[in-house]
Amino acid sequence: MASTTPQGLSIRPRHLAFALPDPLPRHWHGGDAFKTHLFDAMSVLFPDGERFFIDSVRQFREAIEDPVLKEQIRGFIGQEGHHSREHLAYSQRLRDLGYDIQPMEERARRRIRFTQTKLSPHRQLAATVALEHLTAIMADGLLKNPRHLQGAHPELVRLWRWHALEETEHKAVAFDVYTQVGGDPAMLRRAMLMASWFFMRDTLRGLVHMLRRDGLLWKPRIWRDGLRWMWGRGGFFRSLIGAYLDFFKAGFHPWQHDNLDLLERTRREFDQGAAA
Ligand SMILES: [Fe+2]
Ligand SMILES: [Fe+2]
Repeated sequence: MASTTPQGLSIRPRHLAFALPDPLPRHWHGGDAFKTHLFDAMSVLFPDGERFFIDSVRQFREAIEDPVLKEQIRGFIGQEGHHSREHLAYSQRLRDLGYDIQPMEERARRRIRFTQTKLSPHRQLAATVALEHLTAIMADGLLKNPRHLQGAHPELVRLWRWHALEETEHKAVAFDVYTQVGGDPAMLRRAMLMASWFFMRDTLRGLVHMLRRDGLLWKPRIWRDGLRWMWGRGGFFRSLIGAYLDFFKAGFHPWQHDNLDLLERTRREFDQGAAA
């Protein structure tokens, strides 16, 4: 099992242009409100979250001497910065549809402010490492199982696949920085418990708000199908449990989940598409 980032892995932002449909179809995921709003709720958290990731890694930039990792940090910052901007446009589409996403954004901002003013730079970075693992395993699940986005609007598929691709490319950057600056593995495990709790709670809150706004919150069928899609056999989250738990093992490294082949295949899809 590899315990390091693959040699020569290049991480660079692709400056793709997205034309998110305007207005956004209310249930762009094949007419499925639950799936659509689960993705929407995650998207709302990204712009502030990704800026926080950038800040927490940037604080250690000068402490890193390894030229390869320095270069990867540059790529990481470029990619997250670009994601943050695209998801901001996505948030505006959600606002245009009448969803009140401001309380969700403010809650996330308050927590980030707390983290940045009350916790040490190492703990901030540990939170980033944990959240990057969550995004990396979800990204892997999305790329590996295209059925999770089957039936969705093509531009939204493109946006989520692009984001998943770059999350996979840079999945170990924050982790490697954390290791090189002597971060404590036990702190990482605590950070993961906190990160998982807040991520689930915030996503669920967003989902509930949007379903309520659609008048679908109390429809049992919506929850039955949605929960099955997330946690049933072959469900999106259920299939991530093993990879999630690996984070708690001694000696874990994100590239022990070796998905370089999947990464290469997805890269070709985008890099050819971009060149075309
Ligand atoms: Fe991202
Ligand atoms: Fe990321």
